[in-house]
Amino acid sequence: MSLTTPFAVYIHWPFCLSKCPYCDFNSHVRHGGIDEARFVRAYEAEIAAAAARVPGRTVSSIFFGGGTPSLMHPSSVQTILDCIGKHWAIAADVEVTLEANPTSVEATRFRGFRAAGVNRVSLGVQALDDAALKELGRLHTAQEALDAVAVARSIFNRYSFDLIYARPRQSLDAWAAELKRAIAEAAEHLSLYQLTIEQGTPFFGLHKAGKLIVPDEDSARDLYDLTQEICGKSGLPAYEISNHARPGAQCRHNLIYWRGHDYAGVGHGAHGRLTIEGRRVATETDKRPEAWLMRVEANGDGMTVNEKLTSGEVADEYLLMGLRLAKGIDTARYAALAGRALDPKRISILRGEGAVETTTDGRLRVTPSGFPLLDAVVADLAA
Ligand SMILES: C[S@@+](CC[C@H](N)C(=O)[O-])C[C@H]1O[C@@H](n2cnc3c(N)ncnc32)[C@H](O)[C@@H]1O
Ligand code: SF4
Repeated sequence: MSLTTPFAVYIHWPFCLSKCPYCDFNSHVRHGGIDEARFVRAYEAEIAAAAARVPGRTVSSIFFGGGTPSLMHPSSVQTILDCIGKHWAIAADVEVTLEANPTSVEATRFRGFRAAGVNRVSLGVQALDDAALKELGRLHTAQEALDAVAVARSIFNRYSFDLIYARPRQSLDAWAAELKRAIAEAAEHLSLYQLTIEQGTPFFGLHKAGKLIVPDEDSARDLYDLTQEICGKSGLPAYEISNHARPGAQCRHNLIYWRGHDYAGVGHGAHGRLTIEGRRVATETDKRPEAWLMRVEANGDGMTVNEKLTSGEVADEYLLMGLRLAKGIDTARYAALAGRALDPKRISILRGEGAVETTTDGRLRVTPSGFPLLDAVVADLAA
């Protein structure tokens, strides 16, 4: 990893107005409010600590994720961006993304975020159907979400939005209509996630009790295939298992993760990968917001994990992340990282099953029909 390879900073803002019943992200509700200025000072401290460990890098992407970072005051975003700029060089074409919930209240802050330096928003629209939004526990209607998309479009050159599909009772026809409507509103990028039932969420309990029925594997597969077909025909092919973009409009931040480049993770529960003295180091911070805050105030950072990865771990991460991309992985880079090539026999079996393909320039990628089996393919190759 040289000083010129892409480098990103991830900032985690963990607070939400309410907890959605399907979500197992590190997100928290604080009815009594929070001391935002105090949190921002802690972010500044963690940024300084990360910069001391990996000085001299040029930041090509910054991502405010959550939780709901659109609940932050624009001046807080400004302070954090200024702090990043004080510690590292910033690429002229830096991508600065902020995740936003599409409520009218948050849309009123978009101009402030733009003025602070945000140049891309990612909106959690989730559905364009009011009954589905209600079932997902969202605080906005479909119209409100579309209005927020329109505000985003008028302020930012780049925006994306998320939809969740394979929802309870969702038919192929209903999803096709919803997706086409979404594509008409999307500019260059869409994230389309199949609903997953995460352990520990209210949806998990309802599902277990038979009160929440989601499409079975075959129906989910049909919905996935339909998604690929409609997006492909509309010029928004998948460049990653759940992410679709027009050519050149991919989310550069996520590409840094999927391509195995370095990123500093700042904030509660944020993960980082830093190359220090030639070794790749995994970092993780305290997940609990207030505990993280106290740790930063006492130690200068909230780190709970700071671990040098073995070459095998680095190679496995590259495989795991890289195979999510339509372009797949560079097999020579894998071999250099792992100190051994991928097993040609396993590749040959998977190729025979139509799950992977190899290209003449030495890349290995999962085929469109192999993507629904991605976890099994990765497990097989990594073993
Ligand atoms: C960090 S979250 C959300 C950002 C923002 N707070 C919001 O809700 O709009 C990123 C995205 O993950 C997706 N997501 C979260 N939980 C999911 C689940 N159980 N199944 C599928 N997608 C999920 C949602 O589309 C969500 O927008
Ligand atoms: S989906 Fe978004 S708003 Fe809902 S709890 Fe998760 S992070 Fe918060």
